[in-house]
Amino acid sequence: MLNQIKLISAALLSIAILTSCAAQQVKSDQPSLKDAYAGKFLVGATVNGDMVAHPSSKKMRIVKQHFSAATMDNAMKWGPFNPQPGEYNFEAPDKFASYTQQQGIAAVGHVLFWHSQTPDWVFKDDNGNLLSRDALLKRMRERAKLMANRYGDKIKIWDVVNEAIEDDGSLRQSLYNKIIGDDFIEQAFRIANDELPADAVKLYNDYGMTRSGRVNTVIKMVNDFKARGVPIDGLGIQGHWSMDSPTLDEIDTSLTKLAATGLPLHITELDIDYLGRSQFFGANGANVDLQKRIATPENNPYPNGNFPASADAALGDRYAAIFKLFLKHHKDIDRVTFWGVTDGDSWLNGWPVAGRTNYPLLFNRDGSAKQALQKVIEVGLAAQ
Ligand code: GLA
Repeated sequence: MLNQIKLISAALLSIAILTSCAAQQVKSDQPSLKDAYAGKFLVGATVNGDMVAHPSSKKMRIVKQHFSAATMDNAMKWGPFNPQPGEYNFEAPDKFASYTQQQGIAAVGHVLFWHSQTPDWVFKDDNGNLLSRDALLKRMRERAKLMANRYGDKIKIWDVVNEAIEDDGSLRQSLYNKIIGDDFIEQAFRIANDELPADAVKLYNDYGMTRSGRVNTVIKMVNDFKARGVPIDGLGIQGHWSMDSPTLDEIDTSLTKLAATGLPLHITELDIDYLGRSQFFGANGANVDLQKRIATPENNPYPNGNFPASADAALGDRYAAIFKLFLKHHKDIDRVTFWGVTDGDSWLNGWPVAGRTNYPLLFNRDGSAKQALQKVIEVGLAAQ
């Protein structure tokens, strides 16, 4: 599978280089991110429904110029995609699938099964009672089948299960687990494997993938799946990190441990929370269930876009150091995807503090490049 995705990467890369030549006419002095990491790993970003509806917008020009992979941020999750039984919102995912195919961008299906952003009806019968195990497995299969029929020829990388393991390594007691039992993840992968095309890359995706409890359970799970022939093709490391956590050593160690499973690694949701979160509940967490705080002058120091150049430089240095590590592990990493294109798109403006103005990505709100973009590109070019 590693070879397979490297082949896909190589094919996409040649298309990417061709398209980026065109994109560079827009801004010819700027080498692109995807070219800087060509031959190492794909570089991606998430897009949203508004962006795929406006393919000639500034943000989509950035996507076309700089990224060789793309993920929809919300529109393919069970809730937004299928809010009521029989009601489907196909428009944005359809546009996403066609656009990425036309542009030769590797599309990622996010996400088949996640405890969050999944409507209650999924787990209940018409009388409001929890479904039986078989009935929920049937619903999961129907969803996988529909995704496969509609997008299987265009979307070749899928987050199959998201966030099913806790920090301490125990299984998350979500409704999936309560109804199906401790083999929920296994059943999800079996269903995905039955329904998705044979060349689809199926990932287990989670945050906090530097925490030893979770990392150890993931490794145990992969080894067990391999021993028993349960199909899994890769590991998604979300990468919702901050300025000081996890440390480079922690990232290095966990990449080494996870790669030793033999599965390719995908960094799936990278962002650096410049404003930080450790003051609220421990660094490096990304649990969307945790309660939000309210913005104050202390936790929201740059509310008007007045991000100081020195802060921008520090963010760039943090990103550069992290990308040096990714390069060190590039043989095991197939893709690095940012969670958003510009700072304005980031979920970190609303979590864990509602209404903050955060600066976690490589592009400013107006689409202009931050120092971080240049620094990350330089790291890639130096390794070419
Ligand atoms: C999780 C999910 C993503 C997204 C991010 C941030 O990591 O996997 O889909 O919701 O949180 O919002």
